[in-house]
Amino acid sequence: MASICVIGTGYVGLVSAVCFASLSHMVSCVDLDERKVRRINSGKPTIYEPGIEKPLAWAARKRRLVASTDYSDAMRDADFSFICVGTPSREDGSTDLSYVHKCASSIGWALAKRKKPGRHVVVMKSTVPPGTTESLEPAIRREGAKDFGLCMNPEFLREGNAMHDFMKPDRIVVGAAKQRDADAVAKLYSRINKPLLKTDLRTAEMIKYASNAFLATKISFANELANMCEKFGVDVYGVADGMGHDRRIGRGFLNAGAGFGGSCLKKDSGSLLHETRLRGFDAKILRAAMDTNDKQPYRMVELLRSLLGSLAGKRIALLGLAFKDNTDDIRDSAAIRVAKALVQEGAAVVAYDPQATANAKRELGGTIAYAPSAAKALRGADACALCTEWPIFAKIPISSFRKMKHFVVVEGRDILDKAALRKAGAKYSGIGRRGF
Ligand code: UDX
Repeated sequence: MASICVIGTGYVGLVSAVCFASLSHMVSCVDLDERKVRRINSGKPTIYEPGIEKPLAWAARKRRLVASTDYSDAMRDADFSFICVGTPSREDGSTDLSYVHKCASSIGWALAKRKKPGRHVVVMKSTVPPGTTESLEPAIRREGAKDFGLCMNPEFLREGNAMHDFMKPDRIVVGAAKQRDADAVAKLYSRINKPLLKTDLRTAEMIKYASNAFLATKISFANELANMCEKFGVDVYGVADGMGHDRRIGRGFLNAGAGFGGSCLKKDSGSLLHETRLRGFDAKILRAAMDTNDKQPYRMVELLRSLLGSLAGKRIALLGLAFKDNTDDIRDSAAIRVAKALVQEGAAVVAYDPQATANAKRELGGTIAYAPSAAKALRGADACALCTEWPIFAKIPISSFRKMKHFVVVEGRDILDKAALRKAGAKYSGIGRRGF
């Protein structure tokens, strides 16, 4: 059992802190936001993440996880500090590392102050450009810290599945300059029986970027394939099923749709693109994957226009606002981009999302209306546009669709029962699907 300090209690930090506590470590969290600190110490999550509530409540009750705004407090006994702060993209695609640098200085300051002897390992878990972690050493040393090591341990957590992805990862990556630091961090995960790769720092940083860039490229390939399949009257999901059986391809992340969103795929791909361009290389495939994704949500608008004609004055029921199911997160959501485009065309949008309405209201305000249920959104609508793969949407009864003014359905994912819709006389079109 080790003593771990987790800095930043966003979805990576809090999930990591709760999971480390479940792995029998003592965890102290640092966050500058007092409200978050109070909420965590009362055993309540500061994020929507299925499955985090119980283990967090247990860890807080047993004092195995304690949050504070004070670094020296949180770092007093820590053998490890995990940097889990944001690394947002700037307009030009570069990565804002200011939170990471502030974190490094504060860790150095706290290490210099404390009495605890022995080596401390600073572990980067935030996604950073290759070369970042090693660059923190002088800043930590300048604050007076002496016996410390540096590691890079990227996260591969999907929102909505983050607890599962932490405790049952496909692999754990531990990058380090010194073998003993890699061994020490690897030991923290000893109760997780999964492949653990030890690499150098830059390789670990690049594995994270490359993994997200590949996932983004794979989804954009699926979306481009969808657009091609439409030209041949072929159903892209049947093609993806056939391709996916090939072990070299794999079925995962080959679902065509209205485009990928979220806080990571676009950000990390954009950062990798920017950083490589700064070093004189233009990553054409990655750039094309991002361009495809930028355009994909507008396929929904084109399909609606092909079924309704002009969208001005039409009432569109938008099913889904989150960037994917099982989250309230709307960051870079395709659904939000579709909503904005429909409003631009003069349509009256009424949206429903099981979790993301509050966040969407902060982004869209009164430019659209919000319904308390799918049925209410559909009532009197000229068409329905499904953008987020919430499983609940598969259970919408045909009777609710019949309450639409026109039974017109455009699907941007693969959730609805097409046979039932066809039988009920719907006019249907879907990204990468044969319409009816
Ligand atoms: C992603 C990576 O999966 C994760 O490993 C990394 O640590 C963080 O970024 P996340 O963004 O939370 O995770 O969600 P993910 O499940 O990857 O979905 C991202 C977007 O891709 C969503 O908008 C989803 O709808 C879309 N997607 C996913 C597709 O359009 N097609 C697919 O086949 C899979």
